[in-house]
Amino acid sequence: MTTTPLLQVQNLQVEFKTRRGQALVLNGVDFELNAGETLCIVGESGCGKSMTALALLGLIPMPPGRVKEGRILFQGEDLLQAGEDRLRQVRGNRISMIFQEPMTSLNPVFSVGDQIGESLRLHRGLDAKQARERAIDMLSQVGIPAPERRIDEYPHQLSGGMRQRVMIAIALACQPDILIADEPTTALDVTVQAQIFDLLRELQRDKGTAIILITHDMGAVSEMADRVIVMYAGRVIEQGTTAEVIGDPQHPYTQGLIACLPELGSSQHEGRPELVEINGVVPSIWELGRGCAFRERCPQAHARCLEMPPLLAATDRATANASSTPHAAACWLLDEAPVTVEAIAA
Ligand SMILES: Nc1ncnc2c1ncn2[C@@H]1O[C@H](COP(=O)(O)OP(=O)(O)OP(=O)(O)O)[C@@H](O)[C@H]1O
Ligand code: SF4
Ligand SMILES: [Mg+2]
Repeated sequence: MTTTPLLQVQNLQVEFKTRRGQALVLNGVDFELNAGETLCIVGESGCGKSMTALALLGLIPMPPGRVKEGRILFQGEDLLQAGEDRLRQVRGNRISMIFQEPMTSLNPVFSVGDQIGESLRLHRGLDAKQARERAIDMLSQVGIPAPERRIDEYPHQLSGGMRQRVMIAIALACQPDILIADEPTTALDVTVQAQIFDLLRELQRDKGTAIILITHDMGAVSEMADRVIVMYAGRVIEQGTTAEVIGDPQHPYTQGLIACLPELGSSQHEGRPELVEINGVVPSIWELGRGCAFRERCPQAHARCLEMPPLLAATDRATANASSTPHAAACWLLDEAPVTVEAIAA
């Protein structure tokens, strides 16, 4: 029996219009998220990770952006068709986000308690006293010492690690179904990074929250993720379980990323590998030609790569059919056993 995923993103296309021209920043993104799982989104800078996250919350800056096509089904409801009032009910309540730049996401003029309590008052109807009690409880859950005192402090009085914990407390206050964490530990030192990941894992175990973790840190992927999607130039170019994508990468881009990593699966947080640059640079979305976007950097590029490859299943048809999100990569090299993911879904 298959259960309906908590979130289904289908053919998401986001376009930006600027003085440089018009470009598809997201060019048909598809993925699914199941209740209680962690999905990691990886890929080089500019490939569309944050834009995907912003689209889920209806936060694409419009203009210059525009959602051109697609569906974002949250518990079956298409959020792209929802009005602003409905999105406000979902945002920070059912789907929360820890933004890529926590330092600028906290409001400097409100106390920590006010900022955690805001969504509790708005979405849960708590009065000021109840919201304060719950905020103290949240601070304690995210490991902030002396929460009764910290609650009245302002962001500038906290260290980077504490501020990040406050961001997590805000995001988790209403016990969302989905937590999106966009590079939640980039600005933090490795010890605090490790603590934040431990905390996310613990909270997920206790509350069953599904997590979308956007990261450059492949060590974090192997520690945290149940499944992984790899993005490149606005598209998903590989998907699968963590074991499949890290252990048996199929797309030459993913293979390059993994080959650059000294050792995965280590529980050491110190010196964890970041995504390493592969020869060449990601083509600018303003300059994408036709065909596979990885073509100019790909050691195995061939004539057929002038055509855009669809996601092709990396497993045999029987195995692929058994999963709605089989291990797949958008590369013509997988065309030996051509089972398109669209064909499986049909
Ligand atoms: N306001 C904007 N106007 C035009 N283009 C934009 C705007 N914001 C982002 N983009 C473009 O959208 C693309 C995707 O950006 P996005 O922020 O999603 O990348 P990312 O994968 O999160 O990168 P990073 O790892 O650096 O955070 C980039 O090519 C970027 O140049
Ligand atoms: S489709 Fe061609 S260029 Fe693209 S990754 Fe595969 S082999 Fe390389
Ligand atoms: Mg980003």
